Amino acid sequence: MTATTTLFPPFASSPNLQFFSDSKFNKRRFPPSVVASASAVIATPAPDEIPIKDDFKYVSSGRRRLMLMVALPIFFSMNESSTEGFGVKAAELSTKEYLLIQDVLKEVLSKGKAAGVLRLVFHDAGTFDMEDNSGGMNGSIIYELERPENGGLKKPMKVLEKAKKEIDLVDPVSWADMIAVGGAEAVAVCGGPKIPIKLGRLDSVGPDPEGKLPPESLDASGLKQCFQKKGFSTRELVALSGAHTLGSKGFGNPTVFDNSYFKILLEKPWLSGAGMSSMIGLPSDRALVEDDECIRWITKYAVDQNMFFNDFKDAYIKLVNSGARWKNS
Ligand code: HEM
Repeated sequence: MTATTTLFPPFASSPNLQFFSDSKFNKRRFPPSVVASASAVIATPAPDEIPIKDDFKYVSSGRRRLMLMVALPIFFSMNESSTEGFGVKAAELSTKEYLLIQDVLKEVLSKGKAAGVLRLVFHDAGTFDMEDNSGGMNGSIIYELERPENGGLKKPMKVLEKAKKEIDLVDPVSWADMIAVGGAEAVAVCGGPKIPIKLGRLDSVGPDPEGKLPPESLDASGLKQCFQKKGFSTRELVALSGAHTLGSKGFGNPTVFDNSYFKILLEKPWLSGAGMSSMIGLPSDRALVEDDECIRWITKYAVDQNMFFNDFKDAYIKLVNSGARWKNS
């Protein structure tokens, strides 16, 4: 896998009224008046058609994205309050770049693929070390997929790669941004909090230092120390560990993002011995519930899902900004 993934050259605009009659798109984002006006604006015939290469699907939907880029500024200038429906800070999410990424991700990211994509975020950003400011959210995971701790992450990378190729045709996005927004969308698609992500991260040109992710065998004090080196408090460690509510470790429905991780941790089902319940949780999950400071947060999140969602959102934003280098800074 290479860092550059654009398959086709960027292409000039071409008329595609079919895009604006795409009912899924229209219903989701645009009132009919906006669609009509935007259609009128983009209906100007394009002088040159770009030759379609071997993958019609990408080119065809790439044109759709291009139309999105044309239509979005019109949409937002006509109706500034329209982003309220997204339920998050409009200022963060209303850029055309953000909506483009979100729109393409929606097509590739099913609930079943969400856990793997969310795990990618930790494995890219979790290499951050405050001491020397190395590692972090920089897309270096693309060079690190053969590391033992990254086993199983090629599949979710393929999911994001598919989306990235399509987005790159219109407005190139870094791997770091792609993974950060991918994880946020993974959480949202499974019913978790909506998390606004700032865009503009730069990608690293090589792998991050090895041995920075916590081994699953760490006890609570080891986990706390490890997270502290990345700038995270115990509260943030516990909130972020709640990501394990997704996936196959037995914390409730594997495709529903809720607070069952904490409820089940408090029950310690692995102590009951037999059957599937003895398989629930990683050693690192089980370790949290043996630590008094962690238990305080686990108990709060177990009774108050809103609190978990808020804390997870804040800690997630901190995670995806860890060690990031930004385009315009
Ligand atoms: C606290 C330290 C952590 C350790 C030791 C750890 C370790 C692991 C391990 C060993 C797995 C199982 C992988 C497999 O099934 O092969 C896993 C799964 C997962 N991890 Fe973590 N993790 C940690 C924190 C995090 C954080 C902070 C996040 C995201 C914010 C995260 C997200 C996930 C997700 C979503 C899965 C399920 C993946 C799937 O089923 O496909 N983890 N983690």
